[in-house]
Amino acid sequence: MFKVKKAVIPVAGLGTRFLPVTKTIPKEMLPIVDKPNLLYNIEEAVKAGVEDIILIQGRGKNSIEDFFDVSYELEARLVKDNKTDLLNKIIHLKDMCNIITVRQKVALGLGHAVHCAKPVVGDENFAVLLGDEIMYTDDNTPTVTKQLIDSAGANNVSTVAVMHVSMEDVQKYGIIKMEELGPNRFKVLDVVEKPNPDQAPSQYALPGRYVFSAKIFDHLENIKPSKRGEIELTDAQTLLAQKEGLEAITFAGLRYDAGDKFGYIQANIEFALRHPELQDKVKKYLSELKL
Ligand code: G1P
Repeated sequence: MFKVKKAVIPVAGLGTRFLPVTKTIPKEMLPIVDKPNLLYNIEEAVKAGVEDIILIQGRGKNSIEDFFDVSYELEARLVKDNKTDLLNKIIHLKDMCNIITVRQKVALGLGHAVHCAKPVVGDENFAVLLGDEIMYTDDNTPTVTKQLIDSAGANNVSTVAVMHVSMEDVQKYGIIKMEELGPNRFKVLDVVEKPNPDQAPSQYALPGRYVFSAKIFDHLENIKPSKRGEIELTDAQTLLAQKEGLEAITFAGLRYDAGDKFGYIQANIEFALRHPELQDKVKKYLSELKL
């Protein structure tokens, strides 16, 4: 049984790709239509049965905690004005999961950020969702985190999501070396961080969704900083793959790189085209757009 009730979401990044707006607004709070992008990831995890969300947070990110807290004045005003629809958009946020924040005091890399969750996770299995990546699945498809938890449970092994990328894009991601186990399922042999195309072991990239056993913490403690000076989650995954086993699955769903300006705009357009109040207007606007 590979039970997963906790998810770790690193939110300590400075968001330099979105300056100037991220000077005072955490990049995780930038909206995709009307919800902060972090909420999409938390909803993905909660729909997968996760109860505790552990945010690995840096300085200047207090608005994230406020978002998941009670907002007395606003709620009282909406009740008084009988604005039930608007109240319903915010009232559930404080109860949807437990939000636990852990400070990452120094930015030593993604592996270090994940390791900061150890005192909260203990020896439980857990999911990791990278905030820059937004996954869309329709109402009839389990969320990507749920697909990972189901596969990890069925095979009793840590499991990560992979996607096929073009050869020129391998240098943007962790890339797996693998053996095929079945349709869309691989045994991971090695993980290489951002390889040059001529050295990539495959074209299967990690888009930022992982389900790990707590053994990953032992490996994070034993690795050295990489060439770019970071404790890499990738290196710990290689050790996990070699010592306890690690599998990868391709997933059903669409992925947006909302950490990149173009990906963020794509996400906004496509989520607007799915939004009941906006879809007709946005579709008409786009079809008539002349620049
Ligand atoms: C991180 C990981 C990388 C992964 C990527 C997904 O890289 O180190 O393995 O493929 O996230 O977004 P970063 O984007 O932090 O450089």
